[in-house]
Amino acid sequence: MERKDMNINSKPEDVVFHPAKRISSIGVSEILKIGAKAQALKREGRPVIILGAGEPDFDTPDHIKEAAWKAMQAGQTKYTALDGTPELKAAIRDKFSRENGVDYALDEITVATGAKQILFNAMMATLDPGDEVIIPTPYWTSYSDIVQIAEATPVLIACNAEAGFRLQAAQLEAAIAPKTRWVILNSPSNPSGAGYRAEDYRPLLDVLMKHPHVWLLVDDMYEHIVYDGFEFVTPAALEPRLKNRILTVNGVSKAYAMTGWRIGYAGGPRELIKAMAVVQSQATSCPSSISQAASVAALNGPQDFLVERKASFQRRRDLVVAGLNAIEGLDCRVPEGAFYTFSGCAGVLGKSTPSGKRLETDTDFCAYLLEDANVAVVPGSAFGLSPFFRISYASAESELKEALTRIADACAKLV
Ligand SMILES: Cc1ncc(COP(=O)(O)O)c(C=O)c1O
Repeated sequence: MERKDMNINSKPEDVVFHPAKRISSIGVSEILKIGAKAQALKREGRPVIILGAGEPDFDTPDHIKEAAWKAMQAGQTKYTALDGTPELKAAIRDKFSRENGVDYALDEITVATGAKQILFNAMMATLDPGDEVIIPTPYWTSYSDIVQIAEATPVLIACNAEAGFRLQAAQLEAAIAPKTRWVILNSPSNPSGAGYRAEDYRPLLDVLMKHPHVWLLVDDMYEHIVYDGFEFVTPAALEPRLKNRILTVNGVSKAYAMTGWRIGYAGGPRELIKAMAVVQSQATSCPSSISQAASVAALNGPQDFLVERKASFQRRRDLVVAGLNAIEGLDCRVPEGAFYTFSGCAGVLGKSTPSGKRLETDTDFCAYLLEDANVAVVPGSAFGLSPFFRISYASAESELKEALTRIADACAKLV
Protein backbone atom coordinates (compact mmCIF):
# COMPACT_ATOMS: atom_id res chain seq x y z
CA MET A 1 0.00 0.00 0.00
CA GLU A 2 1.29 3.44 -0.90
CA ARG A 3 2.07 5.61 2.09
CA LYS A 4 0.19 8.88 1.86
CA ASP A 5 3.03 10.86 3.41
CA MET A 6 5.31 9.67 0.60
CA ASN A 7 2.98 10.71 -2.21
CA ILE A 8 4.33 13.88 -3.89
CA ASN A 9 0.75 15.01 -4.58
CA SER A 10 -0.30 14.92 -0.96
CA LYS A 11 -0.92 18.22 0.80
CA PRO A 12 0.77 19.12 4.10
CA GLU A 13 -2.51 18.67 5.97
CA ASP A 14 -2.98 15.15 4.48
CA VAL A 15 -0.09 13.68 6.41
CA VAL A 16 -1.04 10.49 8.22
CA PHE A 17 0.93 9.01 11.10
CA HIS A 18 2.40 5.56 10.42
CA PRO A 19 3.67 3.55 13.35
CA ALA A 20 6.58 1.24 12.62
CA LYS A 21 5.61 -2.33 11.75
CA ARG A 22 7.45 -3.59 14.80
CA ILE A 23 4.92 -1.96 17.12
CA SER A 24 1.82 -2.20 14.95
CA SER A 25 0.56 -5.42 16.55
CA ILE A 26 1.18 -4.19 20.10
CA GLY A 27 -1.42 -2.20 21.98
CA VAL A 28 -1.16 -0.32 25.25
CA SER A 29 -1.31 -2.98 27.93
CA GLU A 30 -4.79 -4.19 28.90
CA ILE A 31 -3.81 -3.64 32.53
CA LEU A 32 -3.10 0.04 31.92
CA LYS A 33 -6.36 0.40 29.97
CA ILE A 34 -8.43 -1.11 32.77
CA GLY A 35 -6.59 1.03 35.31
CA ALA A 36 -7.30 4.18 33.27
CA LYS A 37 -10.99 3.29 32.93
CA ALA A 38 -11.26 2.58 36.64
CA GLN A 39 -9.56 5.88 37.49
CA ALA A 40 -11.93 7.73 35.15
CA LEU A 41 -14.95 6.14 36.89
CA LYS A 42 -13.45 7.13 40.23
CA ARG A 43 -13.13 10.72 39.09
CA GLU A 44 -16.83 10.62 38.18
CA GLY A 45 -17.46 9.83 41.83
CA ARG A 46 -17.95 6.05 41.58
CA PRO A 47 -16.53 4.16 44.60
CA VAL A 48 -14.23 1.97 42.51
CA ILE A 49 -11.77 -0.40 44.20
CA ILE A 50 -8.80 -0.96 41.94
CA LEU A 51 -7.09 -4.33 42.38
CA GLY A 52 -5.11 -4.06 39.18
CA ALA A 53 -1.81 -2.46 40.14
CA GLY A 54 1.35 -4.55 40.16
CA GLU A 55 3.13 -2.79 42.97
CA PRO A 56 3.44 -3.18 46.73
CA ASP A 57 1.34 -0.77 48.81
CA PHE A 58 4.27 -0.26 51.22
CA ASP A 59 6.57 2.72 51.03
CA THR A 60 10.29 2.51 50.30
CA PRO A 61 12.05 2.05 53.68
CA ASP A 62 13.58 5.20 55.17
CA HIS A 63 17.19 3.98 55.18
CA ILE A 64 16.97 3.58 51.38
CA LYS A 65 15.53 7.08 50.94
CA GLU A 66 18.27 8.48 53.16
CA ALA A 67 20.94 6.85 51.00
CA ALA A 68 19.45 8.61 47.98
CA TRP A 69 19.48 11.94 49.81
CA LYS A 70 23.09 11.48 50.87
CA ALA A 71 24.08 10.57 47.32
CA MET A 72 22.52 13.78 46.02
CA GLN A 73 24.27 15.83 48.66
CA ALA A 74 27.56 14.16 47.83
CA GLY A 75 27.16 15.24 44.21
CA GLN A 76 26.31 11.84 42.77
CA THR A 77 24.14 13.59 40.23
CA LYS A 78 26.04 12.87 37.03
CA TYR A 79 26.00 10.10 34.42
CA THR A 80 27.35 6.89 35.88
CA ALA A 81 29.13 3.94 34.31
CA LEU A 82 27.01 2.65 31.43
CA ASP A 83 25.52 -0.46 32.98
CA GLY A 84 25.86 0.22 36.68
CA THR A 85 28.15 1.82 39.25
CA PRO A 86 30.94 -0.38 40.63
CA GLU A 87 29.33 -0.02 44.10
CA LEU A 88 25.97 -1.30 42.93
CA LYS A 89 27.48 -4.10 40.86
CA ALA A 90 29.44 -5.21 43.94
CA ALA A 91 26.25 -5.15 46.03
CA ILE A 92 24.49 -7.24 43.36
CA ARG A 93 27.40 -9.68 43.17
CA ASP A 94 27.22 -10.11 46.95
CA LYS A 95 23.44 -10.51 46.84
CA PHE A 96 23.61 -13.24 44.17
CA SER A 97 26.26 -15.07 46.14
CA ARG A 98 24.63 -14.63 49.60
CA GLU A 99 21.00 -15.25 48.71
CA ASN A 100 21.13 -17.41 45.60
CA GLY A 101 24.42 -19.29 45.80
CA VAL A 102 25.45 -18.06 42.33
CA ASP A 103 28.78 -16.36 41.68
CA TYR A 104 28.87 -13.65 39.06
CA ALA A 105 31.93 -11.49 38.37
CA LEU A 106 31.37 -7.74 38.12
CA ASP A 107 31.50 -7.86 34.32
CA GLU A 108 28.81 -10.54 34.34
CA ILE A 109 26.39 -8.11 35.99
CA THR A 110 24.31 -5.38 34.38
CA VAL A 111 22.04 -2.70 35.84
CA ALA A 112 19.22 -0.98 33.96
CA THR A 113 16.23 1.30 34.38
CA GLY A 114 14.00 -1.42 35.82
CA ALA A 115 13.96 -5.15 35.14
CA LYS A 116 11.78 -4.26 32.19
CA GLN A 117 14.72 -2.56 30.53
CA ILE A 118 16.91 -5.56 31.34
CA LEU A 119 14.48 -7.74 29.39
CA PHE A 120 14.33 -5.20 26.61
CA ASN A 121 18.12 -4.96 26.37
CA ALA A 122 18.46 -8.75 26.36
CA MET A 123 15.89 -9.29 23.62
CA MET A 124 17.11 -6.41 21.44
CA ALA A 125 20.68 -7.61 21.82
CA THR A 126 20.02 -11.20 20.80
CA LEU A 127 16.95 -11.61 18.60
CA ASP A 128 16.76 -11.49 14.83
CA PRO A 129 13.57 -11.54 12.76
CA GLY A 130 12.17 -15.07 12.72
CA ASP A 131 13.77 -16.11 16.00
CA GLU A 132 11.43 -17.70 18.52
CA VAL A 133 11.05 -17.21 22.25
CA ILE A 134 9.12 -19.74 24.31
CA ILE A 135 6.86 -18.09 26.87
CA PRO A 136 4.59 -20.14 29.16
CA THR A 137 1.17 -18.61 29.77
CA PRO A 138 -0.20 -17.02 31.83
CA TYR A 139 2.68 -14.61 31.35
CA TRP A 140 3.65 -11.10 32.33
CA THR A 141 2.42 -9.23 29.24
CA SER A 142 5.69 -7.41 28.62
CA TYR A 143 7.50 -10.63 27.69
CA SER A 144 5.64 -11.17 24.44
CA ASP A 145 5.41 -7.47 23.60
CA ILE A 146 9.16 -6.98 24.02
CA VAL A 147 9.87 -10.07 21.90
CA GLN A 148 7.65 -8.61 19.19
CA ILE A 149 9.32 -5.21 19.36
CA ALA A 150 12.56 -7.10 18.78
CA GLU A 151 10.86 -8.50 15.64
CA ALA A 152 10.95 -12.09 16.85
CA THR A 153 8.08 -14.50 17.47
CA PRO A 154 6.69 -15.36 20.91
CA VAL A 155 5.74 -19.05 21.14
CA LEU A 156 3.06 -19.18 23.82
CA ILE A 157 2.45 -22.40 25.74
CA ALA A 158 -0.65 -22.73 27.89
CA CYS A 159 0.10 -23.94 31.42
CA ASN A 160 -3.17 -24.71 33.12
CA ALA A 161 -4.18 -24.58 36.75
CA GLU A 162 -4.03 -28.39 37.11
CA ALA A 163 -0.29 -28.21 36.30
CA GLY A 164 0.05 -25.44 38.87
CA PHE A 165 0.42 -22.96 35.99
CA ARG A 166 3.92 -24.40 35.53
CA LEU A 167 5.55 -25.36 32.25
CA GLN A 168 6.04 -29.12 31.91
CA ALA A 169 9.14 -30.74 30.41
CA ALA A 170 7.19 -32.43 27.59
CA GLN A 171 5.66 -29.09 26.59
CA LEU A 172 9.09 -27.47 26.53
CA GLU A 173 10.62 -30.30 24.51
CA ALA A 174 7.79 -30.10 21.97
CA ALA A 175 8.10 -26.32 21.59
CA ILE A 176 11.84 -26.18 20.99
CA ALA A 177 12.66 -25.59 17.32
CA PRO A 178 15.84 -24.71 15.44
CA LYS A 179 14.86 -21.02 15.65
CA THR A 180 14.30 -21.04 19.42
CA ARG A 181 16.64 -18.56 21.10
CA TRP A 182 15.17 -18.19 24.55
CA VAL A 183 12.77 -19.67 27.09
CA ILE A 184 11.43 -17.20 29.65
CA LEU A 185 10.47 -18.50 33.08
CA ASN A 186 9.15 -16.42 35.96
CA SER A 187 8.96 -17.71 39.52
CA PRO A 188 6.98 -16.70 41.53
CA SER A 189 4.87 -15.61 38.61
CA ASN A 190 3.02 -12.51 37.72
CA PRO A 191 0.07 -13.13 37.23
CA SER A 192 -0.42 -16.65 38.64
CA GLY A 193 1.72 -16.46 41.78
CA ALA A 194 2.98 -19.95 40.87
CA GLY A 195 6.47 -20.80 42.02
CA TYR A 196 8.90 -23.40 40.63
CA ARG A 197 10.50 -25.54 43.30
CA ALA A 198 13.81 -27.29 42.59
CA GLU A 199 11.90 -30.40 41.55
CA ASP A 200 9.76 -28.38 39.14
CA TYR A 201 12.78 -26.79 37.51
CA ARG A 202 14.83 -29.98 37.27
CA PRO A 203 13.04 -31.68 34.33
CA LEU A 204 13.00 -28.39 32.41
CA LEU A 205 16.72 -27.89 32.94
CA ASP A 206 17.31 -31.47 31.78
CA VAL A 207 15.50 -30.65 28.54
CA LEU A 208 17.59 -27.49 28.09
CA MET A 209 20.79 -29.47 28.63
CA LYS A 210 19.95 -31.32 25.39
CA HIS A 211 19.48 -28.14 23.34
CA PRO A 212 22.58 -25.96 23.54
CA HIS A 213 21.17 -23.34 21.18
CA VAL A 214 18.39 -22.43 23.64
CA TRP A 215 19.07 -19.88 26.38
CA LEU A 216 17.07 -19.40 29.55
CA LEU A 217 15.92 -16.08 30.94
CA VAL A 218 14.64 -16.39 34.50
CA ASP A 219 12.75 -13.55 36.06
CA ASP A 220 13.21 -13.75 39.83
CA MET A 221 11.53 -10.42 40.55
CA TYR A 222 9.22 -11.81 43.27
CA GLU A 223 11.88 -13.96 44.94
CA HIS A 224 11.33 -12.46 48.40
CA ILE A 225 7.55 -12.69 48.33
CA VAL A 226 6.95 -16.42 48.91
CA TYR A 227 4.68 -18.21 51.38
CA ASP A 228 4.18 -21.36 53.45
CA GLY A 229 7.92 -22.02 53.65
CA PHE A 230 8.30 -22.12 49.86
CA GLU A 231 12.01 -22.48 49.11
CA PHE A 232 13.00 -20.11 46.36
CA VAL A 233 15.69 -21.40 43.99
CA THR A 234 17.17 -20.00 40.81
CA PRO A 235 18.23 -22.19 37.87
CA ALA A 236 21.84 -20.93 37.63
CA ALA A 237 22.39 -22.29 41.14
CA LEU A 238 20.52 -25.53 40.46
CA GLU A 239 22.38 -26.38 37.27
CA PRO A 240 25.79 -24.68 37.06
CA ARG A 241 26.41 -26.39 33.70
CA LEU A 242 23.69 -24.17 32.22
CA LYS A 243 24.97 -20.97 33.82
CA ASN A 244 26.74 -19.92 30.61
CA ARG A 245 23.35 -19.58 28.89
CA ILE A 246 21.16 -18.31 31.70
CA LEU A 247 20.28 -14.68 32.29
CA THR A 248 19.16 -14.28 35.93
CA VAL A 249 16.95 -11.20 36.12
CA ASN A 250 15.96 -9.45 39.34
CA GLY A 251 15.34 -5.98 40.69
CA VAL A 252 14.55 -3.85 43.68
CA SER A 253 11.02 -2.84 42.58
CA LYS A 254 8.90 -5.42 44.38
CA ALA A 255 11.03 -6.62 47.30
CA TYR A 256 12.00 -3.15 48.50
CA ALA A 257 8.85 -1.32 47.33
CA MET A 258 10.92 0.73 44.88
CA THR A 259 8.85 0.58 41.69
CA GLY A 260 9.31 4.29 41.01
CA TRP A 261 13.08 4.25 41.44
CA ARG A 262 13.45 2.15 38.28
CA ILE A 263 16.36 -0.15 39.00
CA GLY A 264 16.60 -3.72 37.70
CA TYR A 265 19.62 -5.93 37.30
CA ALA A 266 20.82 -9.25 35.93
CA GLY A 267 23.68 -11.70 36.04
CA GLY A 268 24.69 -13.60 32.94
CA PRO A 269 27.44 -14.59 30.55
CA ARG A 270 29.94 -11.81 29.88
CA GLU A 271 29.35 -11.64 26.10
CA LEU A 272 25.62 -11.28 26.56
CA ILE A 273 26.08 -8.61 29.24
CA LYS A 274 28.37 -6.69 26.85
CA ALA A 275 25.84 -6.88 24.02
CA MET A 276 23.08 -5.66 26.35
CA ALA A 277 25.24 -2.67 27.27
CA VAL A 278 25.38 -1.71 23.59
CA VAL A 279 21.57 -1.46 23.54
CA GLN A 280 21.49 0.46 26.80
CA SER A 281 24.19 2.88 25.65
CA GLN A 282 21.88 4.16 22.91
CA ALA A 283 18.66 3.98 24.93
CA THR A 284 19.32 5.58 28.30
CA SER A 285 23.13 5.95 28.72
CA CYS A 286 22.87 4.66 32.28
CA PRO A 287 20.34 4.14 35.07
CA SER A 288 19.66 7.04 37.47
CA SER A 289 22.70 7.76 39.66
CA ILE A 290 20.55 8.48 42.71
CA SER A 291 18.43 5.37 42.33
CA GLN A 292 21.57 3.28 42.02
CA ALA A 293 22.90 4.69 45.30
CA ALA A 294 19.55 3.90 46.93
CA SER A 295 19.67 0.36 45.56
CA VAL A 296 23.10 -0.20 47.14
CA ALA A 297 21.48 0.59 50.50
CA ALA A 298 18.56 -1.71 49.68
CA LEU A 299 20.77 -4.69 48.88
CA ASN A 300 23.46 -4.12 51.54
CA GLY A 301 21.20 -2.82 54.30
CA PRO A 302 18.91 -4.55 56.81
CA GLN A 303 16.63 -7.20 55.32
CA ASP A 304 14.44 -7.93 58.35
CA PHE A 305 11.51 -5.82 57.17
CA LEU A 306 11.11 -8.20 54.22
CA VAL A 307 9.86 -10.87 56.63
CA GLU A 308 7.23 -8.57 58.14
CA ARG A 309 6.05 -7.44 54.73
CA LYS A 310 5.88 -11.01 53.51
CA ALA A 311 3.73 -11.95 56.50
CA SER A 312 1.39 -9.08 55.71
CA PHE A 313 1.10 -10.21 52.09
CA GLN A 314 0.49 -13.78 53.21
CA ARG A 315 -2.43 -12.70 55.43
CA ARG A 316 -3.94 -10.89 52.48
CA ARG A 317 -3.35 -13.83 50.14
CA ASP A 318 -5.19 -16.13 52.56
CA LEU A 319 -8.04 -13.66 52.87
CA VAL A 320 -8.47 -13.30 49.11
CA VAL A 321 -8.07 -16.98 48.22
CA ALA A 322 -10.62 -18.01 50.88
CA GLY A 323 -13.00 -15.25 49.80
CA LEU A 324 -12.82 -16.19 46.14
CA ASN A 325 -13.21 -19.91 46.75
CA ALA A 326 -16.35 -19.24 48.80
CA ILE A 327 -18.00 -17.75 45.70
CA GLU A 328 -19.87 -20.20 43.48
CA GLY A 329 -18.42 -20.28 39.98
CA LEU A 330 -14.92 -19.12 40.96
CA ASP A 331 -11.98 -21.39 41.61
CA CYS A 332 -8.71 -20.05 42.97
CA ARG A 333 -5.49 -22.05 43.27
CA VAL A 334 -3.35 -21.13 46.29
CA PRO A 335 -0.38 -19.18 44.91
CA GLU A 336 3.12 -19.85 46.25
CA GLY A 337 4.24 -16.25 45.97
CA ALA A 338 4.00 -12.70 44.51
CA PHE A 339 0.92 -10.65 45.42
CA TYR A 340 -1.57 -11.89 42.87
CA THR A 341 -4.34 -14.46 42.71
CA PHE A 342 -5.23 -15.91 39.33
CA SER A 343 -8.68 -17.31 39.77
CA GLY A 344 -10.68 -19.44 37.35
CA CYS A 345 -14.07 -18.03 36.39
CA ALA A 346 -15.35 -20.75 34.04
CA GLY A 347 -18.28 -21.33 36.42
CA VAL A 348 -19.78 -17.89 35.82
CA LEU A 349 -19.43 -17.88 32.04
CA GLY A 350 -22.61 -18.59 30.10
CA LYS A 351 -24.64 -16.81 32.80
CA SER A 352 -26.41 -13.51 32.28
CA THR A 353 -26.15 -10.24 34.17
CA PRO A 354 -29.23 -8.48 35.62
CA SER A 355 -29.24 -6.24 32.53
CA GLY A 356 -29.47 -9.33 30.32
CA LYS A 357 -25.89 -9.44 29.01
CA ARG A 358 -24.53 -12.96 28.62
CA LEU A 359 -20.98 -13.38 29.96
CA GLU A 360 -19.01 -15.16 27.26
CA THR A 361 -15.41 -14.48 28.29
CA ASP A 362 -13.27 -13.48 31.25
CA THR A 363 -13.07 -10.01 29.69
CA ASP A 364 -16.90 -9.82 29.85
CA PHE A 365 -16.79 -10.95 33.47
CA CYS A 366 -14.22 -8.32 34.44
CA ALA A 367 -16.17 -5.62 32.59
CA TYR A 368 -19.26 -6.71 34.57
CA LEU A 369 -17.36 -6.53 37.87
CA LEU A 370 -16.23 -3.02 37.07
CA GLU A 371 -19.67 -1.87 35.93
CA ASP A 372 -21.80 -3.61 38.55
CA ALA A 373 -19.53 -4.08 41.55
CA ASN A 374 -17.10 -1.19 41.08
CA VAL A 375 -14.16 -3.56 41.36
CA ALA A 376 -11.35 -3.37 38.80
CA VAL A 377 -9.53 -6.64 38.12
CA VAL A 378 -7.68 -7.86 35.03
CA PRO A 379 -8.94 -10.67 32.76
CA GLY A 380 -6.76 -13.71 32.09
CA SER A 381 -6.88 -12.89 28.37
CA ALA A 382 -4.47 -10.02 29.10
CA PHE A 383 -1.97 -12.64 30.32
CA GLY A 384 -2.60 -15.14 27.54
CA LEU A 385 -4.73 -17.65 29.49
CA SER A 386 -8.51 -17.74 29.86
CA PRO A 387 -10.93 -17.98 31.56
CA PHE A 388 -9.25 -16.45 34.62
CA PHE A 389 -8.85 -13.08 36.28
CA ARG A 390 -6.04 -11.56 38.28
CA ILE A 391 -6.41 -9.76 41.56
CA SER A 392 -3.48 -7.80 42.92
CA TYR A 393 -3.94 -8.00 46.69
CA ALA A 394 -1.35 -5.34 47.52
CA SER A 395 -4.19 -3.25 48.98
CA ALA A 396 -5.54 -2.60 52.47
CA GLU A 397 -7.32 -5.59 54.06
CA SER A 398 -10.48 -3.54 54.55
CA GLU A 399 -10.54 -2.75 50.84
CA LEU A 400 -9.95 -6.39 49.92
CA LYS A 401 -12.81 -7.49 52.19
CA GLU A 402 -15.14 -4.95 50.64
CA ALA A 403 -14.08 -5.99 47.13
CA LEU A 404 -14.73 -9.67 47.92
CA THR A 405 -18.20 -8.86 49.26
CA ARG A 406 -18.97 -6.91 46.11
CA ILE A 407 -17.67 -9.68 43.82
CA ALA A 408 -19.75 -12.25 45.73
CA ASP A 409 -22.87 -10.08 45.42
CA ALA A 410 -22.27 -9.51 41.71
CA CYS A 411 -21.83 -13.25 41.11
CA ALA A 412 -24.96 -14.05 43.10
CA LYS A 413 -26.97 -11.81 40.77
CA LEU A 414 -26.00 -13.81 37.67
CA VAL A 415 -28.60 -16.16 36.24
C1 LIG B 1 7.35 -10.57 36.59
C2 LIG B 1 7.84 -9.18 36.48
N1 LIG B 1 9.07 -8.96 36.03
C3 LIG B 1 9.57 -7.73 35.89
C4 LIG B 1 8.81 -6.63 36.22
C5 LIG B 1 9.41 -5.27 35.98
O1 LIG B 1 9.86 -4.66 37.08
P1 LIG B 1 10.64 -3.28 37.04
O2 LIG B 1 9.81 -2.35 37.88
O3 LIG B 1 11.97 -3.55 37.65
O4 LIG B 1 10.76 -2.85 35.63
C6 LIG B 1 7.52 -6.79 36.69
C7 LIG B 1 6.66 -5.63 37.01
O5 LIG B 1 5.48 -5.69 37.09
C8 LIG B 1 7.02 -8.11 36.83
O6 LIG B 1 5.78 -8.33 37.29
